[in-house]
Amino acid sequence: MSEPTVVHANSREPSFADWMRGVQAQLEAALARNLPPGEAIPGRLHQAMRYASLDGGKRVRPLLVFAAGDLTDAARERLELAASAVELIHSYSLVHDDLPCMDDDVLRRGRPTCHVEYDEATALLVGDSLQSLAFELLAREDFGDGARQLEMVRLLARASGSCGMAGGQSIDLESVGKTLNQPELELMHALKTGALIRAAVILGALCGKPLSTTEREALDRFAKRAGLLFQVVDDILDCTASTATLGKTAGKDAAAEKPTYVSLLGLERARELAADLRAQALQALNLFGERSQRLVELTDFITRRKF
Ligand code: IPE
Ligand code: IPE
Ligand code: MG
Ligand code: MG
Ligand code: MG
Repeated sequence: MSEPTVVHANSREPSFADWMRGVQAQLEAALARNLPPGEAIPGRLHQAMRYASLDGGKRVRPLLVFAAGDLTDAARERLELAASAVELIHSYSLVHDDLPCMDDDVLRRGRPTCHVEYDEATALLVGDSLQSLAFELLAREDFGDGARQLEMVRLLARASGSCGMAGGQSIDLESVGKTLNQPELELMHALKTGALIRAAVILGALCGKPLSTTEREALDRFAKRAGLLFQVVDDILDCTASTATLGKTAGKDAAAEKPTYVSLLGLERARELAADLRAQALQALNLFGERSQRLVELTDFITRRKF
């Protein structure tokens, strides 16, 4: 028999594309299993929760959880719970972000937004319920180290609340029609999007063996840069990609007079900033060598993504 073709630097490892599909499928199955069935009372709310969370999205935050878990030899079962929790918070944030009182969007992940498909009150309750389910999952299993698990719950709570995602969304709404300076814009992005991405990375690492202080600091540096990079690219795609490719309405930021990196710096300098942030993120991973291969690949995916 002839030797198999080597498609990856390390032939024992799946390619990035295969690894990504594997994590996405595992996460999809975990969410489908852990969300209440659509037939369970109240059926309409449970169906809407499933509509908002299943069968869509790139699952970047779960991918980050799993990739960070490689640094600490984390068990897949724990990573699955942590990844599900972060993705449920993210899905809730999208449902609320699209509401008429926020960004007023009708398209998400290539489908009508939750409040369009159901109704506004249901969409509000979907957000509430996905958030509660996230914490229920994170607290469900005994991870064998109660203090660590409490730290994970606290970390996700802080990243989601008024000092994290919800706080960033509040600044976003207050900033409509205003010009923010770069530090102000960075703070808004670091909170509304960066906080949850940062939490995904740290949670993934916390699922395994403890990191040294130096390693934890390097990982946090990476996570902060990657989080900001993610929203800079989102700002760029909003004004360069089509609605069909994005699966959400293109050109919304300019139409809604939102301050973004593109409105502040222009497209070219926003692209340069994304390249700088990518380089800084990768530099922070140097310390981890081969163990950070998936995080390196994900950083490139986040930088080059088309939607
Ligand atoms: C969109 O996030 C909202 C932001 C925080 C920028 P994603 O681009 O990760 O959306 P999905 O989950 O893939 O749909
Ligand atoms: C949303 O930022 C960040 C969230 C916390 C959901 P955007 O408003 O730019 O996200 P999109 O472009 O609608 O996905
Ligand atoms: Mg928004
Ligand atoms: Mg929006
Ligand atoms: Mg956007």
